[in-house]
Amino acid sequence: MYEQISHSLLNQILDDLKPEIRSQDLRHFYTRLGANFYAIHNLFHHLYGRRDDFQAQMLKLVETLARQYIQRPDALKMLDIERENDHNWFLSQQWVGMALYSAGFADNLAGVADKTPYFQELGVNLVHIMPILECPTGKSDGGYAVSNFRQIDDRVGTLEDLQRVSSEFRKRDILLTLDVVLNHTSNEHQWAKRAIAGEQKYQDYYYMFDNREIPDMFEQSMPEIFPETAPGNFTWNETLQKWVMTVFNDYQWDLNYSNPTVFIEMLDVILFWINQGADVVRLDAVAFIWKKMGTICQNEREAHLLLQLMKDCCQVTAPGALFIAEAIVAPVEITKYFGEDAIIAKECEIAYNATLMALLWDALATRNCRLLYQGLKSLPDKLERATWLNYVRCHDDIGLGFDDNDVRQVDYEPNAHRRFLVDFYTGQFKDSIASGVPFMRNDKTGDARIAGSLASLVGLETAVKTGDQKAIDIALNKIILMHSMIFSFGGIPLLYYGDEIATFNDYSYLDQPDKANDSRWIHRPKIDWLRAESRNKQGTVEHGVFSALKKMIAIRKETSAFADFNNRQLVDTTNPHVFSFIRYDHNRPSERVLVICNFSEQPQRIEMAKLSAAGFGIYGQVYDLYSGKRPTQFDNQLVIQPCLFYWLSEF
Ligand code: GLC
Ligand code: GLC
Repeated sequence: MYEQISHSLLNQILDDLKPEIRSQDLRHFYTRLGANFYAIHNLFHHLYGRRDDFQAQMLKLVETLARQYIQRPDALKMLDIERENDHNWFLSQQWVGMALYSAGFADNLAGVADKTPYFQELGVNLVHIMPILECPTGKSDGGYAVSNFRQIDDRVGTLEDLQRVSSEFRKRDILLTLDVVLNHTSNEHQWAKRAIAGEQKYQDYYYMFDNREIPDMFEQSMPEIFPETAPGNFTWNETLQKWVMTVFNDYQWDLNYSNPTVFIEMLDVILFWINQGADVVRLDAVAFIWKKMGTICQNEREAHLLLQLMKDCCQVTAPGALFIAEAIVAPVEITKYFGEDAIIAKECEIAYNATLMALLWDALATRNCRLLYQGLKSLPDKLERATWLNYVRCHDDIGLGFDDNDVRQVDYEPNAHRRFLVDFYTGQFKDSIASGVPFMRNDKTGDARIAGSLASLVGLETAVKTGDQKAIDIALNKIILMHSMIFSFGGIPLLYYGDEIATFNDYSYLDQPDKANDSRWIHRPKIDWLRAESRNKQGTVEHGVFSALKKMIAIRKETSAFADFNNRQLVDTTNPHVFSFIRYDHNRPSERVLVICNFSEQPQRIEMAKLSAAGFGIYGQVYDLYSGKRPTQFDNQLVIQPCLFYWLSEF
């Protein structure tokens, strides 16, 4: 949009740019800057307009964008243009992701590069390599306490190793996803050290207070994220003689985004990694980046403005790169991270579908899909050109973040129901063979979350130990069922490393003092590659899971109805154990797939009339894309085996 005030400011900024910037060929940069400048100026002004140095900061921002554009490798600039021409490219059903720790998956980054064929074998073509940046030994929160945003941690490798990963991936059309931890730094980051040494400039990067007055006011409304190990949201620093805001662990200092310098520094970090070849950047803990007294300090309007500003800026320098929002928040809040009031995504193109994840675990425990239906019905529609990251497990805990109203709607009492789920997955409930562990019980609120690997949570670990073949089969089916949902739901499925070969809990963290009090380490495995070999051996659990996932991935890629264009319609089968929906090709709506999932351990039946009523011609010729067979029918009813699914297509 053209508007005089911002345009004359832009002219002035362009005049003020340093000669080395002005002398470059910046045609594409200037067109994009012209297109986005009105929005960038508006947002930056909204956030920082009251400051005396506003104009100088604005110039610094544009210089940062230009400098990173100049440094952007030509091959990536070409990719930007290709992706501009095909701007819905990431909504395709072709994408299948996996998240992994490089050290757990393959010792280090060089190992990940060597293991690239493994991704191809399975069909994975988006790899999220979890934090690789320098962080202190011990106090690292699994890499999410970064002490240097531009340095790869020695234990993980070097920049050259990352470049090799990136070029191996690029050759094979695999997208590289890296983290940028926006909300906080380690207390050993240079900025924190200089703040401790007394430099005001760096103290202003954080939230620090001389006494408890303001911290106490904040505490009145702020929840605790790690109540067992890091109660409270502030930590006393002896040297500084100040209280520092530390929402997560006491060694993770929250950055203060009311300071524009912090914003520009972190934007520069994002652009730096995008220029190193990251196709997608996972923005960690985005809900937390703006703090406002009297609120829970999550999902604040300014947090959204900051993300819009980051997106608008990134589009100028590197429009081909995508953002993932990691916002594990209430269902109605999550969709806002795509950006509101816009047709195209104005914040993050991709967001973790924490709602679906938690609802799937609910359906599996209750053998009932009431809450799954209710929760998905109240999930707001997302914007076009935005997509979900659908996952079953990840490196974090399972938080039971359902909307209480939805829980009540289906006649459960929210607290009691959550307690049941924690008991169920930690094996405390009668007949439950799940072997998860609780994460962060909060005695003040009664809350708890769940940790554990997928295979252990569905009972496979126990079943294998007791040698109960029937239970083994059911647990394997559960792993396959959960994945059938994320492959067909709409969005990019994100596997978690190790799940594809049914990796069990790893209890060794209990012997390591810096990990023992964080039960999430139970599901951050070191892959046993000898065991992984069994994926080639019929009859093993590794083969059972790996071959099923591989097959589902291949089918997904061929099924255009599985692309994500808001092309899903829930089907009410009236059988509460069964979840069903229709996916259709958005260009050719007659090409459809009917997904039917049985979450119970008994065979289930559906009246075929119910499916016809939903518009699916089940009386005609249908077959299951997965088995290649016609579905079992009996007495005008469709039969679905325990914990299994159909992907039905019409001939
Ligand atoms: C994100 C990460 C999590 C970490 C937290 C704090 O949520 O996924 O592992 O503990 O941020 O950085
Ligand atoms: C909280 C945060 C989420 C983080 C998790 C780590 O749920 O909202 O961002 O991943 O804690 O356990």
